[in-house]
Amino acid sequence: MSKENTKTIQSLRGMNDIVNEESTLFTYFCENAAKIAKNYGFSYIETPLLEETALFKRSVGESSDIVNKEMYQFIDKGENDVCLRPEGTAGVVRHFVEKKLDRAGGVQRWYYHGAMFRYERPQKGRLRQFHQFGCEVFGVSNVYEDANIIIMLRDIFDFFGIKFKLKLNSLGDSTCMPQYKEKLISHLSDFRERLCEDCQRRIDTNPIRVLDCKNERCQELLGNAPKIIDNLSQECKEDFEKLKEILDFNGVKYEIDTNLVRGLDYYSKTAFEFISDEIGAQSAIAGGGRYDRLVEFLGGRPTPAIGFAIGIERLLELIKMKENQEDIVYIGALDDSCLNKIINLANQKRKTTKTFVEYSSRGFSKHFKLANKYNATVIALIGENELQNNTIFVKNIKTQEEKTIKTEEFLID
Ligand code: HAM
Repeated sequence: MSKENTKTIQSLRGMNDIVNEESTLFTYFCENAAKIAKNYGFSYIETPLLEETALFKRSVGESSDIVNKEMYQFIDKGENDVCLRPEGTAGVVRHFVEKKLDRAGGVQRWYYHGAMFRYERPQKGRLRQFHQFGCEVFGVSNVYEDANIIIMLRDIFDFFGIKFKLKLNSLGDSTCMPQYKEKLISHLSDFRERLCEDCQRRIDTNPIRVLDCKNERCQELLGNAPKIIDNLSQECKEDFEKLKEILDFNGVKYEIDTNLVRGLDYYSKTAFEFISDEIGAQSAIAGGGRYDRLVEFLGGRPTPAIGFAIGIERLLELIKMKENQEDIVYIGALDDSCLNKIINLANQKRKTTKTFVEYSSRGFSKHFKLANKYNATVIALIGENELQNNTIFVKNIKTQEEKTIKTEEFLID
């Protein structure tokens, strides 16, 4: 083997393994967020990690940073132009249209979680492979659905004890947005050359993206630029007012951010972001909004839709786990002759309870130390005496109670 072949290989920049405490939090989050989503009527959808590049160009948009700079795009062995998904919505919409659900007319509610890929400059909270938990709803134009989605996000963050700020905006629709864009372009053209290079390009590709440019000079220049919410059509204005009213009624606090435009081009009407003050510069923990035109852009019949995605890695240091009430059982043998018996008992116990089993026989104190490592709440041991009498020694760590009981009793306890 050449020296080159024995060099250790590291994970790629911005792509992390998730293990130990992090993986415990990660699965705790996915399981419980899924429970909440199911209670809201969502069912699970899994779409491929690899899709045709055209899907993201037509949905996320050619003017977006994601499509412009951040895609893991390549030509596969069959000469197909493909890319790793940078987000989850496009694949779900592709499925909806491909299966002709746009013609069926009903309401669809899906949730998903999985890896997304963006070739960004890695930093704290910004990865190249990261995971989202997302929800998408098709077939409901009623603004109560917008509120429902936001309230569900509030419920998810509350469940995990995560504090957030909610930023809200309306991006108008096809009746008011084109006129607004004209107004904005005319305002920006007065000082076009003084804007950053990206913004000069954005004026031609998607001028509203100038509004959320991070460059301080651009923000200063924007000063008294016209605001989208002052230029909404009657319907968009009424929906936005209604949305605020429903959120107020349900005790959801929010702030209006007239510069919130989102980094993906498919949004209309409601747009929102959930922000945490506790995780540094990459503070957005969830984002979403309405995308009533996207099904059409991908070849389907016009279908209203709305959704969101949460960035799971950004939550990991914020999640407060609720104390686990369930028992964890540790079973051990005090003598080699008891090993077969404990394996058999452990397999039966696992039908109802999380159970760890130690394959070597050991003394009492060694077993207690090992059980502690597994955070066991019940320690069950069998020696020769117990084996003969078909009994088992059991200690409950929470109550400190010790007893020797029949194995049948142990299995139903
Ligand atoms: P997004 O705002 O691009 O929206 O991403 C949603 C969340 O994913 C962000 O708020 C953030 O928490 C997390 N995130 C994004 N990029 C990274 C990264 N490089 N590293 C770590 N976390 C990241 C969407 O993706 C839309 N598909 C959301 C949506 C669903 N809109 C409607 N339906």
